[in-house]
Amino acid sequence: MGNFHEIREEVKNYILARTPLIIIETSERERAERILLSICKELSTDMYYYTETKQIVRIGSTNEENFDVANDPLLFAADIFKKKRKVIFGYGDVSKISEDSIYSREIINILYSAVEGNSTLILITKNPVYSRIAQFGMIAKLDYPVLDERYEQISNFIKPYRSRYNIEWDNEDIVMAATLLSGFSEIQINNILSNELVLSKGFYKENIQNLTLQKSKLYGTVPNVQSVNLKANMNVAGLDNLKSWLDEKKNIFFAPDENLSIYGLNAPKGILLAGVPGCGKSYSAKMIAQRWGLPLFRFDIGSIYDKYMGESERKMKEALDFIDNVAPCVLWVDEIEKALSVSGGENDTGKRILGQMLFWLQESVSRVFLVATANDVTLLPPELFRKGRFSEVFFVDLPNEEEREEVIKMYVSECLHIILREEQIKELIEISKGFSYSEIEYAIKESAQILFLYGSEKISFDTIKNKFKLIVPIEKSRAEEVEKVRQWGKERAVPAFTSRQGG
Ligand SMILES: Nc1ncnc2c1ncn2[C@@H]1O[C@H](COP(=O)(O)OP(=O)(O)OP(=O)(O)O)[C@@H](O)[C@H]1O
Ligand SMILES: [Mg+2]
Repeated sequence: MGNFHEIREEVKNYILARTPLIIIETSERERAERILLSICKELSTDMYYYTETKQIVRIGSTNEENFDVANDPLLFAADIFKKKRKVIFGYGDVSKISEDSIYSREIINILYSAVEGNSTLILITKNPVYSRIAQFGMIAKLDYPVLDERYEQISNFIKPYRSRYNIEWDNEDIVMAATLLSGFSEIQINNILSNELVLSKGFYKENIQNLTLQKSKLYGTVPNVQSVNLKANMNVAGLDNLKSWLDEKKNIFFAPDENLSIYGLNAPKGILLAGVPGCGKSYSAKMIAQRWGLPLFRFDIGSIYDKYMGESERKMKEALDFIDNVAPCVLWVDEIEKALSVSGGENDTGKRILGQMLFWLQESVSRVFLVATANDVTLLPPELFRKGRFSEVFFVDLPNEEEREEVIKMYVSECLHIILREEQIKELIEISKGFSYSEIEYAIKESAQILFLYGSEKISFDTIKNKFKLIVPIEKSRAEEVEKVRQWGKERAVPAFTSRQGG
């Protein structure tokens, strides 16, 4: 496996060593051609090169020369390998060489001549090569463009349009776009950029996130993983500790492997959010995708269970493969305990699914950030918390005074379009003690409903206050449950709120 520059060096060395056969394994013929051309230039050497459309061209040091061989390049190659020594022949469209066939045998005969004449046959193919052919030479596997190549490709693509179109992407955006377009071939990247240009008449900041959604189209869909649309502006109040943790980890998540490996680091795998209902666990999953500019996929693990033997495992694998393919992305698993709680002991399928999940969490190298939420953490298997799995476990609690102030101001301005006086805010903060975020939101939206239906004359501060008073806060209505989850949070998790403490 290697990128453009590594493969170029590798192939060049094989040519210098007069290896009889070099197989370049790739589905991107044009990139492989560019490699060959640049090697010929550097070594000032000639090469005969065949593709169906161009027939045979002599490229390299001397002027290009064309030979029409009526689609039978092997005859030409056999002939030239017999007549001349130290010839290089590149075959750009080779197929049907995965197994024993007349065609494969013809190639083997040519290879015998190549060995004798110190010549080299180069095959570019995306399929596996029949072992009797492969044993003559070396295989160089050209991967899809790496980050640097994608960055260059995107920069070069944009350059000529700068004067004619509206191009908002700056250097940082191009890096982001290049990151998102991992796993695409050069041609696919070109197609995606062209599409974006035609559709949007430019490259705007808000288009960056859409780039990887194209990838989910490319890999088809799987029934258990769904793409989630994100609202353009999501406001999340409180949770400052989680937010600052995310801002820090974002830089690691998006850093190239080469840079991380200098420090022995890995990209963060994800977080588990546990805590009191209505305090932003599910909402945070969306917030993270939006904050990091990544597409969000929701994985419904519960729905992969199937009554047929082995089917659940197959579906799990299919889902995880899909997720690896569409990376980088945020993967949201809501109420993970429901799908992974296998405390019963007799449930073997459940255990295997959990095993698959843990293995993937630990071993997958794709940039997927998992955001799992849990309501009843006591049901979760302890293996899930071992180091190397989740990067952090966060606990979301009922909003404290400061956070209530923030969320009240936020929804009052968003939904009621007014600014309350300080003493009014203070009063609401007082009444809403023990409320969850969603209860505060609910109370304010109840007032907003009146505003919408009957106009601003029908609403006063008292109306708003009364809506708050009607709510029995979750701290009271579900006291025992809240207490239990808080106790767990204190012992086992990092608070998602309050200012950051220590490392
Ligand atoms: N921190 C927050 N800032 C602003 N709004 C919030 C916040 N937390 C929750 N909300 C509002 O409350 C709604 C419910 O929150 P969410 O669905 O995230 O709760 P949850 O913690 O997942 O609860 P549950 O345990 O019931 O699933 C959200 O859709 C959002 O409108
Ligand atoms: Mg939820």
